[in-house]
Amino acid sequence: MRTQVVIIGGGPSGLLLSQLLHKQGIDTVVLERKTRDYVLGRIRAGILEVGFVDLMRQAGVSERMDAESFVHDGTVISYGDEQFEINFKEHTGTSVVVYGQTEVTRDLYDAREAMDGKIVFNTENVQIHDADSDAPYVTYTVDGTEQRIDCDFVAGCDGFHGVSRQTIPLTVRKEYEKLYPFGWLGILSETPPVHEELIYAASDRGFALCSMRNDNLSRYYIQCSLSDSPDDWTDEAFWQELKRRIPAEHAENLITGPSIEKSIAPLRSFVTEPMRWGRLFLCGDAAHIVPPTGAKGLNTAASDIHYLYTGLLQFYQDGDSEGIDSYSEKALARIWKAERFSWWMTNLLHRFPDQSPFDLKMQAADIAFLRDNHTAQSVLAQNYVGLPY
Ligand code: APR
Ligand code: PHB
Repeated sequence: MRTQVVIIGGGPSGLLLSQLLHKQGIDTVVLERKTRDYVLGRIRAGILEVGFVDLMRQAGVSERMDAESFVHDGTVISYGDEQFEINFKEHTGTSVVVYGQTEVTRDLYDAREAMDGKIVFNTENVQIHDADSDAPYVTYTVDGTEQRIDCDFVAGCDGFHGVSRQTIPLTVRKEYEKLYPFGWLGILSETPPVHEELIYAASDRGFALCSMRNDNLSRYYIQCSLSDSPDDWTDEAFWQELKRRIPAEHAENLITGPSIEKSIAPLRSFVTEPMRWGRLFLCGDAAHIVPPTGAKGLNTAASDIHYLYTGLLQFYQDGDSEGIDSYSEKALARIWKAERFSWWMTNLLHRFPDQSPFDLKMQAADIAFLRDNHTAQSVLAQNYVGLPY
């Protein structure tokens, strides 16, 4: 088999890239190791920057998002019972869109199916060959039969645990990582959101986040120990702890209910450089991970896809390789700013086990400065709604 671009990974990055390229007549094959239903079973975040929304529009996959999503002009930051709003619209003139990543992925799968896009599910042993040559190819096994696809380029959209990043030799690849000494225990409940906007809550007991998916589907998180497991937390214990971490006025209004999903995610900052090796390009979680505090996971994948899509289009339509040659540098420039923002938000709002009384005073002063200073709020707003591509 031969195609122009092999895309490894059928998550949001791979699907969006495939859809964008296909709409421009560029042939792709997506290799996904799981099934569609398995991929759609993953619960992920739900904040979309305007840049991501624009890409979905370019891809012709925005109808349900436009109909069912919420537009948020700001967010609440709280510290104990004290709270203040950061008004994104006032500071930046733009907002964010609240729409579950699971729904984004579902819409992308539906669009791929409608265009008869080529996706191979349940692939095993995907291997990238001769990525540093002009004739790369990919081998994989499906239903016990080994297959080979010759291509022009390979897009590694296979997430943090994928094969693409590992294909780049350690003599070429440099990795940067920071692990955080806590996790996020998240639940999904069929209850109305506690507030019309998100609440990022710092407290003496640790961080909490009140988010949502729709008028009757709420997403809540509390910072928890890395040694915790979801089974350690009954729903009742979760709700009680959440109420202790958010302002009393919200705790009193919180409508609780049975969790329909409960999971713990570790927090990590990670970047690999470069994001290109020969004809192999890394996109999304394959190249970088952020702690979810800044809601940047999918939104950093989006700018990678924008740069790679634009570069491949330039290559195929104009025979100009400037876009693909500058991909890694451009993508990393924006990634590192998103890494910084996510790291900063995480340090601002979480309790760290080794914090001294002085450290706690510095954290409180940081939040007080953000509360009182218009410029500080503008800096947070610019980063949260998304820095320019
Ligand atoms: N072969 C084929 N497919 C693979 C392989 C492999 N060797 N390894 C991983 N995959 C698939 C996974 O099953 C998954 O469906 O690649 C896909 C990667 O998807 P994601 O992990 O969702 O990564 P990405 O598409 O970049 O989306 C980034 O997802 O994890 C969140 O917070 C992150 O919101 C961000 C978004
Ligand atoms: C979510 O809705 O899951 C969510 C929102 C904002 C974040 C992280 C997760 O920063």
